[in-house]
Amino acid sequence: METVVSGIRSTGKLHLGNYYGAIQNFIKMQHEYNCYFFIADLHSLTTHPTPSDLYGNVKQVLIEYLAAGIDPEQATIYVQSDVPEVAELYLYLNMNAYLGELERATSFKDKVRANPDNVNAGLLTYPVLMAADILIHKATKVPVGKDQEQHLEMARTFGNRFNRLYNHEYFPEPYAFSYGDKLVKIPGLDGKGKMGKSEGEGNAVYLSDSPEVIRKKVMKAVTDGGPTTENQEKPAEIQNLFDLMKVVSTPDTLQHFDGLYNQCQIRYGDFKKQLAEDMIIATSPIREKINDIANDQPYLRQVARFGAAKARESASKTIREIREIIGFRNF
Ligand code: TRP
Repeated sequence: METVVSGIRSTGKLHLGNYYGAIQNFIKMQHEYNCYFFIADLHSLTTHPTPSDLYGNVKQVLIEYLAAGIDPEQATIYVQSDVPEVAELYLYLNMNAYLGELERATSFKDKVRANPDNVNAGLLTYPVLMAADILIHKATKVPVGKDQEQHLEMARTFGNRFNRLYNHEYFPEPYAFSYGDKLVKIPGLDGKGKMGKSEGEGNAVYLSDSPEVIRKKVMKAVTDGGPTTENQEKPAEIQNLFDLMKVVSTPDTLQHFDGLYNQCQIRYGDFKKQLAEDMIIATSPIREKINDIANDQPYLRQVARFGAAKARESASKTIREIREIIGFRNF
């Protein structure tokens, strides 16, 4: 059976972008593949969280994975830092990751632009750590959103380079995966880019947001003066809202508002009200479970321990083999 790996950075609450870009695929894949889903707390260290923020964020993501429907009996759910073998593989892969290619990564360039005062080596080698996450379980399928495609290409490069260096077909090639025909990009509410936590308050709708908060955020989303000619192209901020409707609403609802737009009869107030209500319907069952699971510390501890043990079993096997291939041998 093919192996699947994916993770989400532990920066706290999960939003609709995480849910539709990744988690919905996790939930389906867990029944069909050998799945490892982890919480990327090592990756989150690039922004220097305080110890209590780090702990709180990891716990929150674990709670929300479970509330969204990832089943610890079906998939291996673990915290990245509970598997030190990942950090060891990261070290080995770093020896064959070149400065030029790391500097050219889009995500790195974006981070440098956004935070010129914190261009640390961990940020530069973020794709190497991500490759280690994937290769440690010899995964071939990686459910991620569109923005991670370049990182997957780098993971293939690093794995292939290792294979070539040691003349050993060891790592298989991992590819981005989605059940839809293409990888998903969920836009934010600010009319600009993708939904994300770092894009500013109000841009993201969280799985834990109450109905009132969701309504408020959606009603504040940027719109224009409305269409003036029939069937005109939608400006980015309007297209984004339609893209969101496409994932949370029924096809009929989407078609209805699309038709109104094309006939210049759309009322953005009604459109947004519908969008907000459909987001509430999509997230409410998860939000209700979040509260229950959050209060069950013994269950969380049990899930994390069980997952760490299963993940380490797979990871330590890889490390044992890798050490042998590299030439670390016992006297
Ligand atoms: N880079 C991913 C993100 O920002 C998170 C991630 C880290 C990941 N390691 C991974 C995803 C391994 C898939 C596989 O969302």
